[in-house]
Amino acid sequence: MNEALTYANDHFDRFTEELEDLLRIPSVSTDSSYADDVKDAANWLSTNLSEVGVEHVEIVETGGHPIVYAEHHVSDEKPTVLVYGHYDVQPPDPLELWETPPFEPKRENGTLYARGACDDKGQMFMHVKATEAYLQQEGELPVNLKFLIEGEEETGSVHLAPFIEQNQEKLAADVVLISDTAMFAPGVPSITYGLRGLAYTEVTLRGPNRDLHSGIYGGAVDNPANALSRMIADLHDDDHRITIPGFYDGVRDLTDEERETYASLPFDEERWKDEIGVDALRVEEGYSAVEAISARPTLDVNGIWGGYTGEGAKTVLPAEAHAKISMRLVPNQRTEDIYDKLEAFLDERCPDTMTLDFKRLHGGKPVLVDTESSAMQSAKHAMGEVFGKEPFFVRNGGSIPVVADFKDILGLDSVLMGFGLDSDAIHSPNEHFGLDRFQKGIESIIRFHDHFGNG
Ligand code: BES
Ligand code: MN
Ligand code: MN
Repeated sequence: MNEALTYANDHFDRFTEELEDLLRIPSVSTDSSYADDVKDAANWLSTNLSEVGVEHVEIVETGGHPIVYAEHHVSDEKPTVLVYGHYDVQPPDPLELWETPPFEPKRENGTLYARGACDDKGQMFMHVKATEAYLQQEGELPVNLKFLIEGEEETGSVHLAPFIEQNQEKLAADVVLISDTAMFAPGVPSITYGLRGLAYTEVTLRGPNRDLHSGIYGGAVDNPANALSRMIADLHDDDHRITIPGFYDGVRDLTDEERETYASLPFDEERWKDEIGVDALRVEEGYSAVEAISARPTLDVNGIWGGYTGEGAKTVLPAEAHAKISMRLVPNQRTEDIYDKLEAFLDERCPDTMTLDFKRLHGGKPVLVDTESSAMQSAKHAMGEVFGKEPFFVRNGGSIPVVADFKDILGLDSVLMGFGLDSDAIHSPNEHFGLDRFQKGIESIIRFHDHFGNG
């Protein structure tokens, strides 16, 4: 293992240059005008995996963007690690807020700026380079490795679950290893043992058959934008709790142990507020901010529109109003049940002057994983060595829906060993990744495989 660590250190500059090459490919999965780029990214990745010495690499076509699958078998005596990651990225919009173009990676003071630098090309690529270090320097790996790198994570992984379902034997492993989450704070290593689920909807209210002159019709025709605003306002009470009947049914309470851990986490609330430019937080009554952002369910409007939204004033009574509403879920809420409850809540409040259309866009199950497993202990050991302090076990507020599929279909737990930071601006302009974390991530992965493979 030590030689692999030295190799990774010696070749770090080239690793960074290769990551920059991957970041130059705008593999935006949600926008079909980038479909060829998504394909290019899959090809680039499969070539790189072959070049580092992984023995079997394939590109699997799906009904959507391809999956890059690879395998390196060492010995039946060794455990098998299934590495999951994604090579697709979020759209770069709003473009004008980027200080340097999103697909022209820029290195500045040890930080790499580009869409995907952290989520998830940078973090996923650490696994490829850790593998290279072993194969090129030591000629072998301490574990059997499988790679499952998809191109549709940011659009809900629609073709991934069927692939897993149909390839259970091929994907058989002892554990799933994922780097697609964040550390608790700078310099504070952490391993994620919980992720929230998601239920994402689009709601439309339709009133008159066209936008109307608000002077001629206003007063007698009900306004879908007014009505939608009222319905949305009803969704929270003054304690910032969600008012949908039954919304909290089955929500697993924080254990005393968890609450103690949360209280001991080095959460710097002032710095956290400062970084996002808010003077005050709004937290569900009875919970701290750190608890609320990872262990409590939420409901948020992601976008709201209708009527006139251009420059200046236009006197109009909109024919339609729209909102994208998402809910982050925690164990043991069920996505379909939550969809049903929100739909019923809105239906009940829809005025008889208009109609309501409710679309379920995509969802995912929340997860909690066992922190006592031997793979978790290997992750704890590896990160502890690299960062010089024991990692915390934390819950993250984001969602990676396939983690629940790994458990339900393959019976596998996932180790979420992430190296992002909340401040990396993933999904936002000027996304970046600290090269120190890119390096520590590679080192942690090398150490994980050594500890897990050699017991
Ligand atoms: N890597 C993120 C999820 C994440 C980020 C988890 C930070 C924990 C900490 C992932 O790529 C993502 O963005 N997931 C989406 C859900 C998906 C279904 C679009 C999310 O959480 O919004
Ligand atoms: Mn991600
Ligand atoms: Mn993402």
